[in-house]
Amino acid sequence: MKLQSSDITPREWLQSRRGALRHLLASTSALALPSFGAAQALAPTQRPGKLAPLPAKTSLLPGAQAMDKLTAYKDASGYNNFYEFGTDKSDPAANAHTLKTTPWTVDIEGLVKKPGRWALEDLLALSPMEERIYRLRCVEGWSMVIPWVGYSLAELIKRVEPLGSAKYVEFVTLADPKTMPFVGSRTLDWPYTEGLRLDEAMHPLTLLAFGMYGEILPNQNGAPLRLVVPWKYGFKSAKSIVKIRFSERQPATAWNKAAPQEYGFYSNVNPEVDHPRWSQATERRLGEDGIFGKKRKTLMFNGYQAQVGQLYAGLDLKKFY
Ligand code: MTE
Repeated sequence: MKLQSSDITPREWLQSRRGALRHLLASTSALALPSFGAAQALAPTQRPGKLAPLPAKTSLLPGAQAMDKLTAYKDASGYNNFYEFGTDKSDPAANAHTLKTTPWTVDIEGLVKKPGRWALEDLLALSPMEERIYRLRCVEGWSMVIPWVGYSLAELIKRVEPLGSAKYVEFVTLADPKTMPFVGSRTLDWPYTEGLRLDEAMHPLTLLAFGMYGEILPNQNGAPLRLVVPWKYGFKSAKSIVKIRFSERQPATAWNKAAPQEYGFYSNVNPEVDHPRWSQATERRLGEDGIFGKKRKTLMFNGYQAQVGQLYAGLDLKKFY
């Protein structure tokens, strides 16, 4: 299924975003920012041109512009984990065309002053779109560098006004057996859920993503909206979110329920804490090194220590893995 821009957002909205983008490009060149990342991501050849465009300004947030070479779109959208569509890395790209992303709503529930149902269009318009180039490392040992499009989840959280008692945020994703062939399989307890501490969710680097490579998200990458938490293993970045719930207690998470010794609540990228079945000291960058190529050293917090390290001051990261 090929989405048109009209499927996702009103034409006027896209036009105003395009205007904003042109304005931003003009002003950033005037400022002569050292925006290697921006130039790299905004080059016309980068946009695959398969889906509706989702223009964005380049994020100036510290940590939001990884200088690494971008992963090719075909690798980022062809080698995925999205267990609702199968367990092979090629299954999501082959099967996720059945996912119906319009209409789409997200329910805000639990300990907030303003619970309610948000239409995707309203979420798209909530805050200006930013392009952020993040490394994302999967717990299985591969990593990629993707120009995501979205805004800080904090923007939405501030709007719904968490109560003082809210300490955690749970993300519940779509589990529709009619369109997701593996929902019902024994792999996980569906729906796929994930969670963050409220301060992690409020950290500006935590991205509510609607697009990548200048376009709306392809279904296999979690359309129409997902989380991207770059300092945590990829499974914390829940795809195709339908509910966000605020709670006092730490929520259960799908992978923790499936294998508690292997997947903790925090799941910060940490080369010093091995997975029980393999080392986490190194990683393979998708498309770059080849299966027999030299691996890269995995960085603490996936390279985002300067930005997020203080969130975990005093926490025993071996115990709270
Ligand atoms: N979200 C849902 N709903 N279902 C999933 O199976 N897999 C997770 C995460 N989000 C998953 C999910 C895992 S294990 C990883 S590594 C990342 O998505 C992969 O994101 P990507 O395919 O966009 O690279």
